[in-house]
Amino acid sequence: MIQTENTVTKDLLAKAEKSVLFTARRPEVVMERGEGMYLWDTDGKAYLDFVGGWAVASLGHSPAALREALARQSSTLVHASPGYYNKPMIEFAELLTSVSGMDKAFFASSGAEANESAIKLARKHGAANLNEAYKIITLTNGFHGRTLATMSATGKAHWEKLFAPKVDGFVHVPLNDLDACFAAVTNDTCAIMLELIQGEGGVHEVDEAYLYGLRKICDMYGMLLIFDEIQTGLGRTGKLFAYEHYGIKPDVLTIGKGIGGGFPLSAMLTMEKYDLFEPGDQGGTYSGAPLAMAAGHAVLQELLMLDLAGNAMRQGGYLAAKLAELAGSHPITNIRGKGLLLAFDVPEGAAAALSAICLREGLLVNAPGPSTIRLVPPLIVAQRHIDDMVRILQGAFEQLKAAA
Ligand SMILES: Cc1ncc(COP(=O)(O)O)c(C=O)c1O
Repeated sequence: MIQTENTVTKDLLAKAEKSVLFTARRPEVVMERGEGMYLWDTDGKAYLDFVGGWAVASLGHSPAALREALARQSSTLVHASPGYYNKPMIEFAELLTSVSGMDKAFFASSGAEANESAIKLARKHGAANLNEAYKIITLTNGFHGRTLATMSATGKAHWEKLFAPKVDGFVHVPLNDLDACFAAVTNDTCAIMLELIQGEGGVHEVDEAYLYGLRKICDMYGMLLIFDEIQTGLGRTGKLFAYEHYGIKPDVLTIGKGIGGGFPLSAMLTMEKYDLFEPGDQGGTYSGAPLAMAAGHAVLQELLMLDLAGNAMRQGGYLAAKLAELAGSHPITNIRGKGLLLAFDVPEGAAAALSAICLREGLLVNAPGPSTIRLVPPLIVAQRHIDDMVRILQGAFEQLKAAA
């Protein structure tokens, strides 16, 4: 049932229902425009955005730095061919490797592709250096993407039977259980792959001692340690990369989401000694394409120049403190996360209703589970946005209580 009175929106929603393949339950709004911390729909209604395009809009919506870089690059060269180097590819790879502490970059368009690349590299390493080992240990409740291999790597219980048969070679162990990980290692294991904060899984963090243990296991057996920083990377947690919080470096690092600031872009980064692919092993039509490279370069430069990782740390602290204050009078528990990757729990089953009320009141928040609200706003967020957000959230809790 389409509820809006706006005939343009009504017409668009009817067309969407007819022609867009159903893959997700979407609310009856059509987003039209974005600027900074806000999105506007086709009714002209503004939304304060604490979803940030799923942790993508690192510089906010339609930032000038990204728009200008795309305009400049598109008037010079949009696409050459992955078979040739191009200037933006070389410049971006140089900047990205210098700030990440990694040696080499492979570029793709989505997080899942970057993770597929990491999985392939781990298997290549296993074949070349570990006597054909191919198994990868990943974590229960983790998330690595929606291709068949990355879904197989993902440890979501309700995906277990989906799209069977799964890609073989993934062993899932619980987060922060070092004994379980150690017990899962066999002669067939070539890598351990994990998120440092499980984002889709509800914002659950690795322990430092656990991570240190994983590093030791990998070193002991010559296995690759792969950090999926698709969600935690590029300033989101208050450091440029989440691994800097722990001082433990991976052999392979994947990034996506915030690096393109909204332009589809991801990368797999690794060390010189794992530069193992041969021609034909890995690639893609859009790998390292000039437009994406110019976008990534501009986003990263702006992130560094504005110290948005520092802003994420400061504003994340402020937001967590405001939520803790709100928890004094409303059913908010278990506030957690780092920087601007935060979550809290609400009474069982209330998350979807709360996020629907927030939407109605002009605030976007995400409910990754029935009792979890996740907050991943653009990294440009300021105190005044957080104050507005908390005010709307408070009103939403009051509406929820009144409706109960
Ligand atoms: C940690 C992590 N890895 C991988 C992915 C997949 O990225 P994409 O949807 O761009 O393929 C996501 C997306 O949410 C993610 O959070």
